[in-house]
Amino acid sequence: MSKNTEVIQQKDMQYYMHNYANFKTYKEDRSVIYAKGEKHFIYDNDGNRYLDGLAGLWCVNIGHGNKEIAQCMAEQAQKLAYYNTFGDSSTAPAAELAAKLAALAPGTLNHTFYGTGGSMANDSAIKIIHYYFNMLGKPNKKKVISRNLGYHGSTFLAHTLTGIQPTHDHFDLVKDLVHYVTAPYTYHEAGDKNEEEFCDFLVQELEDKILELGADNVACFIAEPILGAGGVIVPPEGYHKRTWEVCKKYDVLYISDEVVTAFGRLGHMVTSYNKFDFEPDVLVMAKGLSSGYIPIGATMISDEIFDVISRPKSDNPYFSHGFTYGGHALACAVALKNIEIIEREKLCENVLEQSPYFWEEMKKLEDLPIVGEVRGSHYMMGIEFVADKKTKAHFDPEIDITKRIYKNCKERGLILRPIDSVCIISPPLTYDREAIERTAHIVKESVLAAMEEVEIKV
Ligand SMILES: Cc1ncc(COP(=O)(O)O)c(C=O)c1O
Repeated sequence: MSKNTEVIQQKDMQYYMHNYANFKTYKEDRSVIYAKGEKHFIYDNDGNRYLDGLAGLWCVNIGHGNKEIAQCMAEQAQKLAYYNTFGDSSTAPAAELAAKLAALAPGTLNHTFYGTGGSMANDSAIKIIHYYFNMLGKPNKKKVISRNLGYHGSTFLAHTLTGIQPTHDHFDLVKDLVHYVTAPYTYHEAGDKNEEEFCDFLVQELEDKILELGADNVACFIAEPILGAGGVIVPPEGYHKRTWEVCKKYDVLYISDEVVTAFGRLGHMVTSYNKFDFEPDVLVMAKGLSSGYIPIGATMISDEIFDVISRPKSDNPYFSHGFTYGGHALACAVALKNIEIIEREKLCENVLEQSPYFWEEMKKLEDLPIVGEVRGSHYMMGIEFVADKKTKAHFDPEIDITKRIYKNCKERGLILRPIDSVCIISPPLTYDREAIERTAHIVKESVLAAMEEVEIKV
């Protein structure tokens, strides 16, 4: 390790409080300082190269170091990096991107409100929905139904929407706003039920929850099509459409949080409609929208919502919600260029083409005694580790099995992300056969090495 790296690490430890900082280990586990990226490879400050099995954080969909994006940034920055889009100001990139998103999104999702990331986009979704029901003269329709293990962000409101209970420890939440239902986690939650019965249970539970809270009090249901940070959980077949139908029955709006799944990760630009056959009332996007080159998030709303909220009130005509950097010209220009690249380079098609081989290779890991399940879809994958395949019991947290696997993968040149008992893989959409082969090989070797470390015999 170079001296320069040590200096950066020292400053990093002393002055920079990380996202999701681990205050137990941050003094021993010096940070890896990433310095450069190229397509699906990432380099640390000492020049070591890794396959980026995580696409930064499920976001660098077009891959790192894209020169076209850099050029687009430079051109837009020289022309006009920023102007506010409050009231009657706008810019061409903000308008063009909104029009492009309307063309990509299903049904009547034709109106985009911008922010700078996924949490903010979810906050906006809730505020807009509350405003909508206020305008309709239904001020009690305020409660939100979310799911255990759902992840919707870290602002005060988005953290409350998030159903990963340990993340709530020692924080306060928005009181009595959000109510959680069971995660559609067949592997752990289905018990004796088969997938169909489990789906029936989940759909009924949602309906019961709406009735328990009172349909007149429930504003919306928020759900990721595939739960990401909660452990890459794929709901049972038919779940999306059936939960959407329950929502429609009770005038409960459906927010589809596609912060991770949109822009190609599952082989489609938008998955709610194209893959799961339903049309949400609100669609939330971020991450792959700019492939992480610049912070941007989008909350798309239907014509039906827009028609109501855009009626000027007699007392105050303003929709008093907006951010300095919402509709940022440079960010919107980058997002437009990013979408152009995904389409032109046929990255969705690459995901659809490579996925069968990717899954065939990765599913083989289930033969290992500590791999409980390899699940997900296309370029969104979670590998769950268990100490006992029959009971599905997890390892003692002290063993930190997934962190061991993460470290072993890193030593062998692959970055993935350990979250509790699951290792997450969600690579750039440029991942090709060679990268897939190498990933499968490294993960297997790393799991075997971890088993040896904790003295588990094959
Ligand atoms: C599904 C989902 N929604 C929302 C968010 C929050 O996005 P951000 O971190 O950009 O605020 C994330 C972040 O990982 C996410 O995975």
